[in-house]
Amino acid sequence: MKKISLLGTGLIGAFYTMSLHSHRRKDVIHTVCSLPESAAKDFAKKYNIPKYTDSIKEAIEDKDTEIVIVALPNYLHREAILMACRAKKHVLCTKPLAMNAAEAKEILDAVEKAGVFHGYLEDLVYTPKTLKTIGMANNGSFGRILWTRSREAHPGPHSAWFWDKKQSGGGALVDMGCHCIEIGRSFIGKDIKPVEVMCWADTQVKPIEAEDHAIALIRYETGAISQVEVSWNFRGGMDLRDEVSGTEGTVRLDHWLRTGFEVFTTGNTDKYVSEKSESDAGWLFPVGDEVHALGYSHMFTDMLDSLENKTEPRETFYDGYIVNAIMDACYKSVKTKKWENVELEVWRGKEGIKAGIDLIDYDKDHYLIKKEVMPDGKTKIMLKEKASGNIIQKYI
Ligand SMILES: NC(=O)c1ccc[n+]([C@@H]2O[C@H](COP(=O)([O-])OP(=O)(O)OC[C@H]3O[C@@H](n4cnc5c(N)ncnc54)[C@H](O)[C@@H]3O)[C@@H](O)[C@H]2O)c1
Repeated sequence: MKKISLLGTGLIGAFYTMSLHSHRRKDVIHTVCSLPESAAKDFAKKYNIPKYTDSIKEAIEDKDTEIVIVALPNYLHREAILMACRAKKHVLCTKPLAMNAAEAKEILDAVEKAGVFHGYLEDLVYTPKTLKTIGMANNGSFGRILWTRSREAHPGPHSAWFWDKKQSGGGALVDMGCHCIEIGRSFIGKDIKPVEVMCWADTQVKPIEAEDHAIALIRYETGAISQVEVSWNFRGGMDLRDEVSGTEGTVRLDHWLRTGFEVFTTGNTDKYVSEKSESDAGWLFPVGDEVHALGYSHMFTDMLDSLENKTEPRETFYDGYIVNAIMDACYKSVKTKKWENVELEVWRGKEGIKAGIDLIDYDKDHYLIKKEVMPDGKTKIMLKEKASGNIIQKYI
């Protein structure tokens, strides 16, 4: 049994606790830390946690604690992780790893130097649907991945610090783009280098300095393109969707709205429906088990099994660093309105892949472009003549 110190008992701290303390898990949260101390105390009581404090240092240095979970506002991640490194504690950190790539690199260097286990808590690559899709993508079910689309949009975050760029590092892109980027990377292949990005971001609605809406394109070395759509202005709940398109297949995932679970109620109870749901009346889209559907359960199983078995989890601080570097390039592109390179001080994947098209031999003189059965029942093919390069069509 591993004892865990949880830093932060807000929305994500609660989800992490519900996940870690459910299904008869063997690891436990032993100390919680949040502000004010009374909030930590109430949380400890609610989830049967023996110790509480308002001191990050005290929670990290607790002599029984082996693992520290950082579930604090973004501007505190670096400080908390560096403290955990000094105390030689294993550390798991929520998304985004840091406010920017420079901070993320400092964090990565610190955990690697300290030799502590590190896991990046990117839950959305661990949803059961996403894990299944990544497995199928890896075994070639969709052929060469050409395009991914990941969308997260809702009516905006639940705490003031998210809306303040100085504490969050950015707006909707930093908050949710980090998920979408890592989902796209996971489908395309995390060893495939992200090369350049084009990003639009704007503040369309809210009176804040950060962007409340952004759309980014990330081009990978294979030629695959990953589309990221995030917004804090979306009305009607949380729109959480992914799509993948490859030379041999297509996937569409809906994680939150219209998942096949639709309920009508007059709303007399005034109760919580599901995260970021805007209504408790009429036709609703509840989620059966949020902790499971959002990937927290599989994520912690991977993290804690990996720690025990001395292996690397699916998501490490290296991945967090890559995501921060892609987001930095996005912000640069927003300013310059141009494609911007992803600057990677550290890259541990493949190098020098040449993007190219697939040549399918139809016969010795032609490549096959396309075959289609027409409404009249005849089959039409389009071919490219190898010698002349001309494109022709014929019925077969
Ligand atoms: N799906 C996800 O992975 C997901 C979802 C939501 C939030 N997050 C991330 O989790 C982190 C926290 O977000 P949240 O939504 O839980 O925020 P929140 O505002 O709900 O909670 C923040 C918590 O941090 C505590 N805190 C703040 N300053 C502190 C300090 N100086 N010392 C001790 N405790 C302090 C607060 O008391 C509170 O318990 C952020 O990095 C956010 O991006 C991840």
